[in-house]
Amino acid sequence: MMASLSTPPVTAGVSPSPRPSLLAYKKAAGLTPSPWCGWRRAAVATAATSSNRTAAPAETIVTGNDVPLLSFAEVAERLDEFHASGTRNQNYMAMYSSIFGGITTNPSAMVIPIDDHMVHRGHGVFDTAAIMNGHLYELEQHLDRFLKSASMAKITLPFDRSTIQSILIQTVIASKCTQGSLRYWLSVGPGDFQLSSAGCANSALYAIVIESPSLPVPAGCKVITSSIPIKSQQFAVMKSVNYLPNALTKVEGEENGGFTGIWLDDEGFVAEGSNMNVGFVTQSKELLMPRFDKILSGCTAKRVLTLAKQLVADGRLSGISSRNVSVQEGKTADEMMLIGSGILVKPVVQWDDQIIGSGKEGPIAQMLFNLILEDMRSGPPSVRIPVSY
Ligand SMILES: Cc1ncc(COP(=O)(O)O)c(C=O)c1O
Repeated sequence: MMASLSTPPVTAGVSPSPRPSLLAYKKAAGLTPSPWCGWRRAAVATAATSSNRTAAPAETIVTGNDVPLLSFAEVAERLDEFHASGTRNQNYMAMYSSIFGGITTNPSAMVIPIDDHMVHRGHGVFDTAAIMNGHLYELEQHLDRFLKSASMAKITLPFDRSTIQSILIQTVIASKCTQGSLRYWLSVGPGDFQLSSAGCANSALYAIVIESPSLPVPAGCKVITSSIPIKSQQFAVMKSVNYLPNALTKVEGEENGGFTGIWLDDEGFVAEGSNMNVGFVTQSKELLMPRFDKILSGCTAKRVLTLAKQLVADGRLSGISSRNVSVQEGKTADEMMLIGSGILVKPVVQWDDQIIGSGKEGPIAQMLFNLILEDMRSGPPSVRIPVSY
């Protein structure tokens, strides 16, 4: 029987549980739970009926056993309902987990253990690769960075590199996805809730394929200088799952009407964006990027540096360089752009209050966007691995 949400008897000297149920909180706050699940609706109806019996004052601490104890089959059923509710607006096509040692195409089963140290301690690393026209773009380059990050995070590989690569490709094959992204994680593994990884018997590999038919659009955007402290060099150069500073930089940028925040380094030079690198076209038509020694070495930015040589050859650029970029030089550049695998090349038309260049999307940023897109569609085998579905 579902417990009543009315005031529990308080035994002398014994305090009621200080943790009222979620339903009690929602009821006290006048909130109705989201309407998507039958079982949730049923729970709310039960709570409403119960509350008619004894009206509990809003501040009353309530306990009860209205949280059901579920069998594995019931959990699976509820996970199915959660997925069917449309709470996620993404298409998860396949997931690999070394925990179950295989691939699933059922989104409800795409879960990881809560005692995985990546979940509760952030002891994990990740990377991505785009899937374009049935090819994986720059997988080798992303894998190099992934394994380097794992080594810096002291994560022992569960498999050798070629096995990891094969698992990732097999996951894409199983997904049947020809356009989207592959995301993957290496974790120190599940085992306990300690800080030390000594109790983690095996490291874990997870991967997921997300379908996204639409391509990024090189529309101009505004950026904001981030007030969130940049990660120290040791952590900025590795792609660990500790992305709270990055997430807050993105949110801060959005809260201020921009696309993202831009970090400056410990010496005040331009560093990078929340999850993208930054490039400029100087007044002397040089393509300029901050060096990668204190920031993440972006696979897209490095590829842009290579592809941009064509623009030097045809005289549109005077040169290409990686060096310190002051805020003054950046804000007075002819063009500014964000570069990363999610956005490819995105022109920046305003940085804080400063309009960049003409205030419109710059021609070099547009050309670099087209070059990267073309490279993804028909670049050399060194950057494109065909997926044999
Ligand atoms: C902090 C940070 N900088 C730069 C980048 C751009 O890297 P990439 O071009 O490899 O996506 C990312 C992307 O994940 C990032 O998280």
